[in-house]
Amino acid sequence: MKDLVSIAQWSAARIRRLLDLALDVKRHSGRYRDAMRDRTLVMLFEKPSLRTRVSFEAAMTQMGGHAIYYDLGSSPLGRGKESVEDTARVLSRYADAIMARMFRHADIVALARHSGVPVINGLTNDEHPTQILADLLTILERKGRLDGLTLAYVGDGLNNVTHSLMLGVARLGLHMRIGCPDEAAYRPDPAVVRRAARLARASGARIDIVADAREAVRGADVVYTDSWMSYHIPEEQKAERMARFLPYQVNSALMRRARRSAIFLHCLPAVRGCEVTDEVIDGPRSAVFDEAENRLHIHKALLLHLVAGVPAPRA
Ligand code: CP
Ligand code: NVA
Repeated sequence: MKDLVSIAQWSAARIRRLLDLALDVKRHSGRYRDAMRDRTLVMLFEKPSLRTRVSFEAAMTQMGGHAIYYDLGSSPLGRGKESVEDTARVLSRYADAIMARMFRHADIVALARHSGVPVINGLTNDEHPTQILADLLTILERKGRLDGLTLAYVGDGLNNVTHSLMLGVARLGLHMRIGCPDEAAYRPDPAVVRRAARLARASGARIDIVADAREAVRGADVVYTDSWMSYHIPEEQKAERMARFLPYQVNSALMRRARRSAIFLHCLPAVRGCEVTDEVIDGPRSAVFDEAENRLHIHKALLLHLVAGVPAPRA
């Protein structure tokens, strides 16, 4: 598997090795100073980004390589003049790896299939695997373990971050409770639910979907939420979604339902006062900026692993 398109395609052992490598990179960044020398990452974007764009670019710079930002809106592909397949074939002749943020998940799948170099999914409408790797790294740092933990996710269930969390948790054997409105438009995609359930049977993970946010959060070790208006959601839906998701806001009252030691995570960007209040995101249990920083370290580890074939150090 040369790519990271979906976290479900990676074994638990491979994910854990990558987390170990990221911890090593974070502690000893100097060791990897030249690891990407003469290497180029092409970064394709169809949607906005702060963290993904800047952390991948900084990761390449800090390891002696180079990253090219390419706005797909001004590409032949974005203008309907070239196929995804040919774009992949051409980029593979120039670059050592491709990272892409696209609307359609099928486009990343096609990009990876026709690329001769590793392709990293930097978010599609359906999945956001690099985010979940950074989240797992943050949980591991804060809790010292992953096994036996319960992660509560509340808010928009039909969401790329929710989907990748479900698949990651199912791979690694954590527990997850999702609190979201009981309607198809807001619940996780049934195909992802089935896939996660299959993986969970093998790993011993448990994933429940409930309509009550308080039930989802009760006794959780990690409370997670995401924007109610993902990049691809049309503005016309805003008023309806705000009203529908309001009972799922992460505020102090909801956080009290979690364990005392629970941490709060959010992939960011956050809309304060909507999915999370200031007191929670700026409060002592919030780990959101460590989580954002960990994108940098996990991306370095990913590039080292996929491009330079670096194995994780022995534990
Ligand atoms: N969390 C995340 O992917 O942020 P960006 O959209 O800023 O890249
Ligand atoms: N679900 C969000 C994640 C942003 C990082 C979105 O797709 O916009």
